Amino acid sequence: MQSRAYASRLPRLASPHRVANSEPSDQKTVMSRIPEAEILPITANLSDSGRLAIGGCDVRDLVEQYGSPLYIYDEATLRDVCRDFVGSFTAEYPNTHIEYSSKAFANPAVSKIIEEEGLDMDVVTGGELAVAIAADFPAERMNFHGNNKGREELVEALRYGIGLITLDSFAEIELLNEVAGELGVKQQVMLRLSPSIDPHTHMLTSTGILDSKFGFSIETGDAEVAVKQALEQDNLDVVGVHFHLGSPIFELEPYSEAIDYVLKFSADMRDKYGLDLKRFSPGGGFAIGYVSDTLPPAMSDYAKEIAVAIRKGCDTYGLDEPIVSVEPGRAIVGRAGVAVYTVGGIKTIPDVRTYVSVDGGMGDNIRPALYDSEYAVVPVDRPNAVRNQIVTVAGKFCESGDVLARDVDLPEVETGELLALPASGAYCLMMASNYNMQTRPAVVMVNDGEARLIRRRETYSDLLASSLDLD
Ligand SMILES: Cc1ncc(COP(=O)(O)O)c(C=O)c1O
Repeated sequence: MQSRAYASRLPRLASPHRVANSEPSDQKTVMSRIPEAEILPITANLSDSGRLAIGGCDVRDLVEQYGSPLYIYDEATLRDVCRDFVGSFTAEYPNTHIEYSSKAFANPAVSKIIEEEGLDMDVVTGGELAVAIAADFPAERMNFHGNNKGREELVEALRYGIGLITLDSFAEIELLNEVAGELGVKQQVMLRLSPSIDPHTHMLTSTGILDSKFGFSIETGDAEVAVKQALEQDNLDVVGVHFHLGSPIFELEPYSEAIDYVLKFSADMRDKYGLDLKRFSPGGGFAIGYVSDTLPPAMSDYAKEIAVAIRKGCDTYGLDEPIVSVEPGRAIVGRAGVAVYTVGGIKTIPDVRTYVSVDGGMGDNIRPALYDSEYAVVPVDRPNAVRNQIVTVAGKFCESGDVLARDVDLPEVETGELLALPASGAYCLMMASNYNMQTRPAVVMVNDGEARLIRRRETYSDLLASSLDLD
C-alpha cells in the first residue's frame, strides 16, 4: 500500500470530480485561470515558464524528451480517484469491491497502482489477463468478462486461478462447465443480465438495452433459462448476477431503476430455482468531464444512489444484502491521462473553417470519429491566453472523419505549437491502431516532478515484426 508520507502529500479532495483545483492557496489564483482545470489532472498547474505542467513536470519538456504525440498519466490523480471510489462506496455500502475495468487502459504500471490501492480488476480477453498477470496482479481478485470468451482464454484463466468469470451466453455456460470439468475446478461465476434500460448515452455505448449483443435478456426470458441452466452445471458455482448499462452515464436514475428490476428478478429466481444471490454488480459506466461545461455527478452521489437502491431492493424482495462490485474503467483512468500533439499544417477556408492538423489523430484516439465524442484543447505553452478563434483540430490520418476536436476556442495557433487534450486516459490508446502504418505514441507516468516511460513509442520494426518473410 501507499506510504503515509506519500499519502500526506496528496491533496485532500471532498469531491475531485467537482473541485477545480487542490493546490496550496498561493497557486490557486494562477491555477484557477486555466479554463480546463476541472477536467485536467488534479496536479495540473502552470510551470515557472507559464506553461502547462502535470505532476510537477513541464509538458513541453516532456515532449522534448519523449517525443510527440505523447500520452501523460498523472499518478496522483489516478491514486486519488481510486481512493475516492473506495471511500465513497464503502461509506455507503461497506461490502463493496471496486473492480477496475482494465479495458479502459490495460498497462502493467497502472495495474500495479490499482493493486496497491486495493482495487480488484476486470479483464475481457486473454490479452488483458496476460497484462495483469505480468504485473503480478492476483488472479483471485480478477473477474473475466466479455461476450464471447474462447476455450483457450478460459483454460488460461482457470489455470491462473481467476476469482470470477461472468458468463454472457448459453454457449459460454456449456463451454466453461466443460473446461472447468477437464481441469477439475468448480468455478465461481456470475451471469450478465440485460435489463432493457436505456442509460441515455451514445447508441454505440449503450449495452443494457434490449437490442444489445451483451447479456441474457430478462425481458425475453433468456435470463431465466440461463439461471436455471447455470445452476444445473456440476462445475459452476453461480454466486450472483451482473448488469452493465453502458457508458458514460451522467444520470443516476438508470442505476436505481435497473437495480430494482434485477433484484426483483433475482428474488424470483431464488423462489423458482434456489438462486443464492451472494454477489451483485451494477457494472461501471461512471462518467467523467471531457469538456468543462459538462461535468458528472460526484462519485459519492453515484455511490449513494446505488447503495440506497440495493438496500431498498433487498428489503422489498426479502434478499440478504450481497457483496457488491462496481466496475469503473473510464472514471478511474480518464482524468489522469492527457494527450499532447504538435501542430503541423493550418488551413483556413474563409467563412467556413480553420483546420489545425496535428501529428496524431484517429490512430491514437478514435473516440471522436466513432462516437462524436467531444474534447477540450489546451494550448500547452500558454494555457491562459485569450482564446480568440474557433478552429477544428484534425489528425494526420487519411480520413475526412479524422478530427479530434471540432469548433474549439483557441488563441492564434502556430505550427510547432503543442496542444493538450484533457481526459484522454480512457479508451484512447486501448482502441489505437496502426492505420496508415502510423506508430503508436509513447506513454509517461508523472509524479512529484519525475517522469517515467511506461510504454515506449512504437518503431517501424514493431510494424514489421509480425509480417511473414517473403523470401
Ligand atoms: C461489463 C463492463 N463493466 C465495466 C465497463 C467499464 O465501463 P466504464 O469504463 O464506462 O466504467 C464496461 C465497459 O464496456 C463493461 O462492458
